[in-house]
Amino acid sequence: MSSTVLVTGPTGKVGRRLIPLLVRRGVTIRAAGRTPVQARTGIDPVRFDWADESTYETARKGVDAMYLVPGAVPQPEHADHVRALLAGASDAGVGRIVLLSVYGLDHAPSEDPLRRIELAVESSGVPYTIVRPGAFMQNFSDGLRWFESLAEGIRERDEIVHPGGDGLVSYVSAEDIAAVVAVALTEDGHDGRAYAPLGPEPLTLTQVAGHISWVTGRRIRYVEADRASTRDALLAAGASPAAAEHNSELHSYAFSSGMFGALNDDILTVTGRPPVSFGEFAVSAAGAWRR
Ligand SMILES: NC(=O)c1ccc[n+]([C@@H]2O[C@H](COP(=O)([O-])OP(=O)(O)OC[C@H]3O[C@@H](n4cnc5c(N)ncnc54)[C@H](OP(=O)(O)O)[C@@H]3O)[C@@H](O)[C@H]2O)c1
Repeated sequence: MSSTVLVTGPTGKVGRRLIPLLVRRGVTIRAAGRTPVQARTGIDPVRFDWADESTYETARKGVDAMYLVPGAVPQPEHADHVRALLAGASDAGVGRIVLLSVYGLDHAPSEDPLRRIELAVESSGVPYTIVRPGAFMQNFSDGLRWFESLAEGIRERDEIVHPGGDGLVSYVSAEDIAAVVAVALTEDGHDGRAYAPLGPEPLTLTQVAGHISWVTGRRIRYVEADRASTRDALLAAGASPAAAEHNSELHSYAFSSGMFGALNDDILTVTGRPPVSFGEFAVSAAGAWRR
């Protein structure tokens, strides 16, 4: 019998790559978001807004598993939303949850807004897998809510403006993250596990600019963003002043300290394929930077 999976964030960088992988696995998808996705065989779009609990019942009714992406910018209330969505989920027959979190969150204090979301999932009574990726390659091509202008900056001004300095980051493809999530949602043996999808090579933002220069044939330069401009970008993306302050500090630290520059075998172990390199990604994403 085909199972039904609730996919939140279906238009997001991971969600829109996850849907075709699940369709290929014969899963029916409840695509739950504010922006409707197109209804097709095997895809059932429903309106869903984390900020509006009246939309929860239609989204969760009758699903066997859930892929959860809380809102784009972490806010203190997100853990309460997740707890409310998951109330009664175990009794209703939800057998599996995969949560998209952030690399390193397992070491965060329990009051951290994102760690609180993980704890809400862990205490739901439903078997779960937590996926904690590093920074996405697609932030440079698809748009990142906090730095919506990254692709635009490359396309129009030949520059990448981002915090991080010379910090090393193992950028990971959202395709690989989606592949890990698809396996964890549909195959046995992943309950209670946590995976940290990371790309295959730590790079500085200057090296990232070098890859993009090579595929565009233009000289792309890296410009370091300071904390104040990071905070302003978060405020513009809808974060509260406290969340913007907290996240700008964390974000600047995560990119400059090298904590996102770790390496592991999680993508290979879960999917059987090595992770996509930044060079491969840049070739496939070149259209995003064409003038
Ligand atoms: N980007 C990175 O480098 C990175 C690294 C590690 C972890 N992460 C984590 O990845 C997650 C984001 O995943 P993503 O990149 O796949 O998504 P994304 O591209 O940031 O898009 C966010 C998705 O969530 C939906 N959404 C936003 N607010 C919503 C709301 N109030 N109600 C319902 N849906 C809402 C959006 O759809 P609509 O706006 O159309 O409703 C969209 O589908 C975040 O939790 C982030 O912490 C990101």
